[in-house]
Amino acid sequence: MRIAVIPGDGIGTEVVPAGLEALDATAARFGLTLEFAEFSFASAGYWQRHGTMLPPDWEETLRGFDAIYFGAVGWPDVVPDHVSLWGSLLQFRRTFDQYVNLRPCRLMPGVRSPLAGREPGDIDFVVIRENTEGEYSSVGGRIFEGTDRETVLQETIMTRVGVDRVLRYAFELAARREAGHLTSATKSNGISISMPYWDERVAAMKDNFPGVRVDKFHIDALAAQFVLHPEWFDVVVASNLFGDILSDLGPACTGTLGIAPSANINPTRASPSLFEPVHGSAPDIAGQGIANPVGQIWCGSLMLDHLGHPEAAAHLLGAIEDVLAFGPRDAPLTPDLHGTGTTAELGHAIAERVRER
Ligand code: NAI
Ligand code: MG
Repeated sequence: MRIAVIPGDGIGTEVVPAGLEALDATAARFGLTLEFAEFSFASAGYWQRHGTMLPPDWEETLRGFDAIYFGAVGWPDVVPDHVSLWGSLLQFRRTFDQYVNLRPCRLMPGVRSPLAGREPGDIDFVVIRENTEGEYSSVGGRIFEGTDRETVLQETIMTRVGVDRVLRYAFELAARREAGHLTSATKSNGISISMPYWDERVAAMKDNFPGVRVDKFHIDALAAQFVLHPEWFDVVVASNLFGDILSDLGPACTGTLGIAPSANINPTRASPSLFEPVHGSAPDIAGQGIANPVGQIWCGSLMLDHLGHPEAAAHLLGAIEDVLAFGPRDAPLTPDLHGTGTTAELGHAIAERVRER
């Protein structure tokens, strides 16, 4: 399997090596061949040298890979955030039609939830966000600007193809998971055209998956239930906007930003999918070697799963859980996990655990 590696900026360049070490250890353990090719584009340094975030042939360059393993992009002192983000990550998502954004929300051992009284195992769900259409469309405009009649319009776009393909992915995921439960985020009481359509497509898709238990919540109530009853959820599927909000709220309920992974997936495999931690380049701690590499390493597990190696993926995730469970006294956990370990030390500890467990 050929993997394009893009460390990007700031702590991206620190956590990616830890991620690669864990991937190498897992590949060796399971007899897999992972070939990494590293690229320096999609970074502030590249922008300073070339005046663009990406080379003109980036699409041909990346298209040949099986997956993209991404760190973080952004260095606001050098390049404005909207330039770095639109000039790189959002290009990848659109061009490669990565229509599923997947974020696991799992309370890991040794990690304190901001929700009182929650133990590891209590919270374990996945948010699936539609990643290409919905509320984030460029259809609309302004007229009568600067006058009393100033009018602004921005349309939500829901296509049958776009809605059905993300629902199908979410249902298939729910069907594979033990709980077999899918929750749909809606707001059909208030958004009276597009959201009833979303509900209709959920109801139609449900017929193909008789083994999956399905429910739906209005987004406002769902946000409250994420906090009050996170144990209710298994797979949560949502439109682009609702999914954006839930996919931050979910991981927030499970502790530090440093451990949260995400995947931008094109399930057709017609183009590569991209795996990146939820966090950014963290300029405030960059260069100190203390960034938590767990989000990046967990991304490796998601990537192995996507590439068709669920056992290797589960093994790597298990190694992460083991090391977190050792706690700050017995493992070199990073400062955000109340330890005194470094990025590299925690990375080594997880790779070592991959070899010995
Ligand atoms: P951030 O996620 O980089 O940092 C937020 C806070 O969390 C900081 O205090 C940081 O030290 C801490 N943090 C983040 N990751 C951590 C880790 N692995 N271990 C320990 N602590 C960690 O978000 P911020 O500061 O809003 O953005 C910084 C830059 O990153 C900006 O240029 C932004 O555009 C970019 N960014 C890029 C993303 C991406 O590449 N997908 C996502 C979010 C932000
Ligand atoms: Mg967001």
